[in-house]
Amino acid sequence: MLQKRVLEVSSVSKRLGKRNIIENLSLHVDAGEIMGFLGPNGSGKTTSIRMITGMIKPDQGDIKIMGYNIQKDFSKAMKHIGAIVEQPALYGYLSGWENLMQAARISGIKISTEKINWCVKMVQLQDRINEKVQRYSLGMKQRLAIAQALLASPSLIILDEPTNGLDPSGIIEMRELIRELREKTGVSFFISSHLLSEMEQLCDRVIVIDHGKTIAMKEMSSLQNDTVSFTVDKNKLTSACSFLASKGYKPIARDNQILINVDFGNIPELVNHLYQQGVHVYWVGQAKQSLEDFFLDTTQGKERA
Ligand SMILES: Nc1ncnc2c1ncn2[C@@H]1O[C@H](COP(=O)(O)OP(=O)(O)OP(=O)(O)O)[C@@H](O)[C@H]1O
Ligand SMILES: [Mg+2]
Repeated sequence: MLQKRVLEVSSVSKRLGKRNIIENLSLHVDAGEIMGFLGPNGSGKTTSIRMITGMIKPDQGDIKIMGYNIQKDFSKAMKHIGAIVEQPALYGYLSGWENLMQAARISGIKISTEKINWCVKMVQLQDRINEKVQRYSLGMKQRLAIAQALLASPSLIILDEPTNGLDPSGIIEMRELIRELREKTGVSFFISSHLLSEMEQLCDRVIVIDHGKTIAMKEMSSLQNDTVSFTVDKNKLTSACSFLASKGYKPIARDNQILINVDFGNIPELVNHLYQQGVHVYWVGQAKQSLEDFFLDTTQGKERA
């Protein structure tokens, strides 16, 4: 299948004041993909998104949206994205519907009433759409902003920390909404967040940055199933891990379990070796490496995202 590249960021750097805020950032988002952009507070997520959405210029590098370079073909590039950067830009004294009408007017393209209605339905605000936005909950405001971002049928929606301030059920609703939109419209998402477990559940792929530098890029499907967990005595955990490390494995200790990547066929021999070392394996199971395991492994216990 021909993959269309919706967003391509190539070797982008940015200095603000005296500091390099973003250094040599490269990433891409393909059609229909949900890409997570992870990093701790102050790592440069919003700055990157501000560059991608044309709010500030990169010092170096290129950004292309649907093949259009944002420096050379700014308006053609911007037609393909809908974005919410930091706070959703909404008028509190207008109703949800009036906000969408206003956004449609200033978009510069013709957007039908049917289309606006469709967007309202997609974010499930039809019952409250005529109320003033200042009476909306944070979750409703986020959903209205997403409806606004959907108006011009973008190929890519960019969300900067969409779950900030939402309660657990609001976070789940947001996740379901993003998945449903991708399914129904094929739109791609680029979503910044510092919540590893949330991004793990939502995204196809993540990129992790820290201090403006890329630390890792990971496909969620490669957070594998070929990880095996060995349940052992807790007091044997350390010696078992050092034995496995001496055999070239990269064991991760979790409670009284050791997680390693090992071929199925090598399990009996390994259990036997462990037994000879005085480590009794009580249970062997399949385990999924979490994004947090992967991240801690990659950064070797440095600062968490
Ligand atoms: N206009 C500016 N001038 C100087 N430094 C800035 C400016 N804007 C941002 N910074 C700095 O750039 C760094 C990255 O900030 P940015 O807002 O991009 O991080 P972030 O990853 O979005 O963080 P958060 O998770 O808190 O939203 C921070 O150290 C911030 O202080
Ligand atoms: Mg930010």
